[in-house]
Amino acid sequence: MAPLTTLARAAVRSSAAASLPVRALSTSAACSVAASGTTSPSYSSPFKGAQKSTQVPDFSHYMAKSSGSTNQLFGYFMVGTLGAISAAGAKSTIQEFLKNMAASADVLAMAKVEVDLAAIPEGKNVIIKWRGKPVFIRHRTQGEIEEANKVNVSALRDPQADEDRVKKPEWLVMLGVCTHLGCVPIGEAGDFGGWFCPCHGSHYDISGRIRKGPAPLNLEIPVYDFPEDDKLVIG
Ligand code: FES
Repeated sequence: MAPLTTLARAAVRSSAAASLPVRALSTSAACSVAASGTTSPSYSSPFKGAQKSTQVPDFSHYMAKSSGSTNQLFGYFMVGTLGAISAAGAKSTIQEFLKNMAASADVLAMAKVEVDLAAIPEGKNVIIKWRGKPVFIRHRTQGEIEEANKVNVSALRDPQADEDRVKKPEWLVMLGVCTHLGCVPIGEAGDFGGWFCPCHGSHYDISGRIRKGPAPLNLEIPVYDFPEDDKLVIG
């Protein structure tokens, strides 16, 4: 059996050796057929002979005819112009944005309220609306001013002297919002001759200080001023 195997191997080797030249011959033949075809090749390889490997097209037709400094000047002009246009656009955009964010005219008008005090007789209340809240303006009589000042401040729940709550003793200006839960108290009512909150029964005196009931604090004093004798500006 062994000699037979050896013989078989030798036969396989010799057949492989015999087939190699045939394959090489067939490859070279194919190349030569392609090279000697009836249509001549139009492609010239850049990798052959003395030809350069990179062929750069001629761009001289597109080159600027003017000098280099003129081109530079034009470049600077374009950059400057575009920069100015961009800056103007950015400024306008920011301005519009800020304008939209700002308070509208009606809100600004409500920011301050001017009141003609000459129209409010002594001993009377006036309620105006300021920033969506009621404001009480009381033209106090001399008797009311004296009554407000004779109170023992230290005994109050929210100790505050009357003179610290008014700029002019005859004019009491305060927010008409109960400091308990925000109801609007009723004027000239309650046990202390001032204001009474019907929601839960808070009593405020003639200076707007809490005297009885669940409210923890005196009625709040807004920012106001008297630019003229008979003029009050709130806000
Ligand atoms: S809201 Fe005025 S007493 Fe409660």
